Amino acid sequence: MVDGMDVAHEMVLWKVEPQCSIAEADDFERLSRLLDRPRVKIERKLSFDERSLSELSVTGNLRPVDSYDSMCSPGAGRSALDTPVSLARNSFEPHPMVGEAWDALRRSIVFFRGQPVGTIAAIDHASEEVLNYDQVFVRDFVPSAMAFLMNGEPDIVKNFLLKTLHLQSWEKRIDRFKLGEGVMPASFKVNHDPVRKTDTLMADFGESAIGRVAPVDSGFWWIILLRAYTKSTGDLSLAETPECQKGIRLILSLCLSEGFDTFPTLLCADGCSMIDRRMGVYGYPIEIQALFFMALRCALAMLKPDVEGKEFMERILTRLNALGYHMRSYFWLDFQQLNDIYRYKTEEYSHTAVNKFNVIPDSIPDWIFDFMPSRGGYFVGNVSPAKMDFRWFALGNCIAILSSLATPEQSVAIMDLIEERWEELVGIMPLKISYPALEGHEWNIVTGCDPKNTRWSYHNGGSWPVLLWLLTAACIKTGRPQIARRAIELAESRLWKDGWPEYYDGKLGRYIGKQARKFQTWSIAGYLVSKMMLEDPSHLGMISLEEEKVKKPPIRRSASWTA
Ligand code: GLC
Repeated sequence: MVDGMDVAHEMVLWKVEPQCSIAEADDFERLSRLLDRPRVKIERKLSFDERSLSELSVTGNLRPVDSYDSMCSPGAGRSALDTPVSLARNSFEPHPMVGEAWDALRRSIVFFRGQPVGTIAAIDHASEEVLNYDQVFVRDFVPSAMAFLMNGEPDIVKNFLLKTLHLQSWEKRIDRFKLGEGVMPASFKVNHDPVRKTDTLMADFGESAIGRVAPVDSGFWWIILLRAYTKSTGDLSLAETPECQKGIRLILSLCLSEGFDTFPTLLCADGCSMIDRRMGVYGYPIEIQALFFMALRCALAMLKPDVEGKEFMERILTRLNALGYHMRSYFWLDFQQLNDIYRYKTEEYSHTAVNKFNVIPDSIPDWIFDFMPSRGGYFVGNVSPAKMDFRWFALGNCIAILSSLATPEQSVAIMDLIEERWEELVGIMPLKISYPALEGHEWNIVTGCDPKNTRWSYHNGGSWPVLLWLLTAACIKTGRPQIARRAIELAESRLWKDGWPEYYDGKLGRYIGKQARKFQTWSIAGYLVSKMMLEDPSHLGMISLEEEKVKKPPIRRSASWTA
């Protein structure tokens, strides 16, 4: 339940804060000029941005919450009407695909005991095998949820958050092994019994998934979505319930526990996220590290500073500080950094080592020397001992921009790279999930001869329309909406005509994916979210976090330890 006193206290505290920083004010200027929109609208929404973490004391009364008192989005409070708010608000003719997409998205809604609880992964009547595409996937629901929130329909999102939270409390076993309490499902399915007229739930925590990998990303997406819901509706009561607070803490316990780690990054098995098959993304994949960073920041904004909450807040701050430093220093690659690695010495011992992970320059793949532009950079796929995966992954880089894991300079450089390498990364269908593809012997070894992940297909260099919404959000955040417009136009030329495929194949993304589902829900929702964000960039606040100076955690060990 909401503690009335607490809320009132926060509101007062919030009101004495300045509306926005100078840097932000410059941003609105730039953004409003670029978007050619009246400034007033953007300004009102941007003032809802997070309170600065640096002003917060974990031990004091202040809490790093969003400005809940003024968070209602323009569409909030609407019932599930058929006309999307975005259509009604427009004075110009919307693209015909928008209406089609809304119809398709609504058809994908899954009900549990009469309540909408999520959207099915794909409704492809033509496909012979259903596999698990008839389920509600946590990660797939995120763009659907964003579309509903932006359209003022938060109920389905709230129901989804509560249903998945309930599933988290199930006992999870694979053979004789019990999974961690905080693990969130990859997907769930509602079984309707027409005779008994009952609905039952079935969840998959990785035990049924191909390869039996637990979805590390699900918990992170759940936290990110809870913040988006809170930010969009202003309904602070959901995140504040003891159940949600516990859910957050359980997820965090899984990834903040101490072990043998020497890095602040999170060690993972292959295929534990959107790329859910063996693709050489084990170790410290960028997708998970970026989502981890973002989820930590979102959790920090939502945890109540009670005894348990405070302890987690401290652990989060400590980890954010270390994780941010590690990622920005060691995962970052641009022309200069590549040149440095190329000239690295190896076998350096002790803390004076420059080549900290002992990367052998001969292991740098040939393609990167041509691919790396003079202007631009990105977070590489993975960094572990003597092993750097130089591949470019779209999701991790976009999330790095949105969570401000990337510094403002790095964010600009990522966008520069996308522009400079447009043909390779966008081609004719946005956006390549990874670049480049693994081929020949390397494909053999890394994917284990996976016939679904052949070169330039599926996760191995395929193009995924769902990624358009993350690209659009990153473009808006970096003040480059024209890049998003170009990408959306490309999607509009084919997506609907091709029946909203899951992915495209080929170097340029010209072919509908070999085994791609049609009417893939997140391709549909991703398009809608992109359109709505471009129309009204204030929606960006739901998925974006401003740069923060994270407070230095107290040093616990004696200084002599490192001396
Ligand atoms: C595939 C994708 C995965 C997605 C699922 C449902 O397994 O690799 O990311 O969640 O399909 O669409």
